Amino acid sequence: MTSPGNQNLEIGEFAEGSEREVEAAVSAAKAAAPDWETFDVDSRVEIFQNAADIMRDRKYELAATVSLENGKNRTEAMADVDEAIDFLDFYSSEFERANGYEFDTGEPTPGQHTTNLLRPYGVFAVISPFNFPMALFVGMSAGALITGNTVVAKPASTTPLVARKYVDILEEAGLPDGVLNLVMGGGSDVGQPLVEHEDVSGVAFTGSRGVGLHIQESFMELGKRGPVIAELGGKNPVIVSDTADIDEAVEGVKNGAFSFSGQKCSATSRVYVYESVIDEFTDKLVTEAEELTIGPATDRDTFVSPLINDGALEDYQEITEQARNDGTVHTGGNVVTDGDLDAGRFVEPTVVTDIPHEHELAREEHFLPFVTIHPVSGLEEGIEKSNDSEYGLCAGLFSTDETEIDHWFDEIESGMCYVNRNQSATTGALVQAQPFGGWKFSGTTGKFAGGYWYLQQFMREQSRTRVE
Ligand code: NAD
Ligand code: ALA
Repeated sequence: MTSPGNQNLEIGEFAEGSEREVEAAVSAAKAAAPDWETFDVDSRVEIFQNAADIMRDRKYELAATVSLENGKNRTEAMADVDEAIDFLDFYSSEFERANGYEFDTGEPTPGQHTTNLLRPYGVFAVISPFNFPMALFVGMSAGALITGNTVVAKPASTTPLVARKYVDILEEAGLPDGVLNLVMGGGSDVGQPLVEHEDVSGVAFTGSRGVGLHIQESFMELGKRGPVIAELGGKNPVIVSDTADIDEAVEGVKNGAFSFSGQKCSATSRVYVYESVIDEFTDKLVTEAEELTIGPATDRDTFVSPLINDGALEDYQEITEQARNDGTVHTGGNVVTDGDLDAGRFVEPTVVTDIPHEHELAREEHFLPFVTIHPVSGLEEGIEKSNDSEYGLCAGLFSTDETEIDHWFDEIESGMCYVNRNQSATTGALVQAQPFGGWKFSGTTGKFAGGYWYLQQFMREQSRTRVE
């Protein structure tokens, strides 16, 4: 496998698993499950805190691995590793705070004594995407593991190295054999048989809507009763009011749309701007987009990263061609062919107008550095168009009018809602402080990663009464 920023750079050779490896991994996870469930709260918590400490010590090396493997620039790669550490810290402290989710409910009637507890389901499949290869692989698997499940984990086929490093870290941190099992490989060769395996009782998945819903359907068709915790895609809208500080709005949209080349579920992808300020906003965004530095993570000043694979490069060429035909491309739309960058999959950040709101370019998730700008008459139209989507992950508003802000918070159909966030209009949630998840087809459970209700999803309740 080679690096997306430099395809002459060999990352390594990795196993391509199949049903046979899935079978062996599930069997190991099943065998380890009864013993792992008996670990007390402190012992389980200690392992994940140890892992967090090891990752803190190796932060730069892990971030460099993320950069080389999936192309993230330095800042984004460090944030990916930091988020993983935050998940470990937060989930272990939550599990400890909840006393492992076991409560003595007292004596309901004289002589009867009841304990109410949450127990693991058994073996969980954890399937993660390429774009947060450390944070999401670590976060989902930690959720399943700390709550007492054993896990078979499949990272994206483009990011196996980061996953391998984390599995080694957990082993060093004290995780017993068989509790976390890694199978590398593709979605249909490994992911699908894993989900369908009769001994897999639950799934934690982050990825595209199509794959997530397919997994949910497969699970239900097989009559499985455990949870499918799926975090899916987004088509994240931002509204820019005529009361907004336009420079702040431009900064927020630029960072939201083009960081990691738009390869984020949370990326800003459609912007609804009040008619009176749309020209100023568009001109300034175009100028900013043209000044961004495109390059590999090995260059310190890189902002715009490479695309992950040839499929993404083809998608970019296709949608920018469509944008040229059906709208106006103000900047971008080209694959970068510039000497040093030829060895990577680099494309220009793209800003487009004159695309009808109903057009698929303004409705489908593209996962590319591509943003469409649309005029609106005011807040009501902006909210109506923002909500006219099957997705509901992240949304942003730029406005200095308190009435507008309150109304928007009440009406916007989105899990993550940000006002006047110039750091990024829609991306960059922090674990615990900003629990992350989606409404509508952006998620299946309505509970958010890095939030206070996340861990409970990995367990089922039991009420135990004995007469003494
Ligand atoms: P993807 O859906 O193509 O793949 C995700 C994972 O599913 C990979 O490991 C893949 O191999 C596996 N997979 C594919 N087909 C499968 C099948 N039939 N059965 C089981 N597993 C299968 O997604 P991706 O391209 O890696 O990541 C991008 C997508 O992830 C975007 O849609 C993005 O919005 C979404 N995402 C969502 C969040 C969130 O928190 N909501 C976060 C990051 C990414
Ligand atoms: N948690 C990531 C973000 O907020 C996806 O951008």
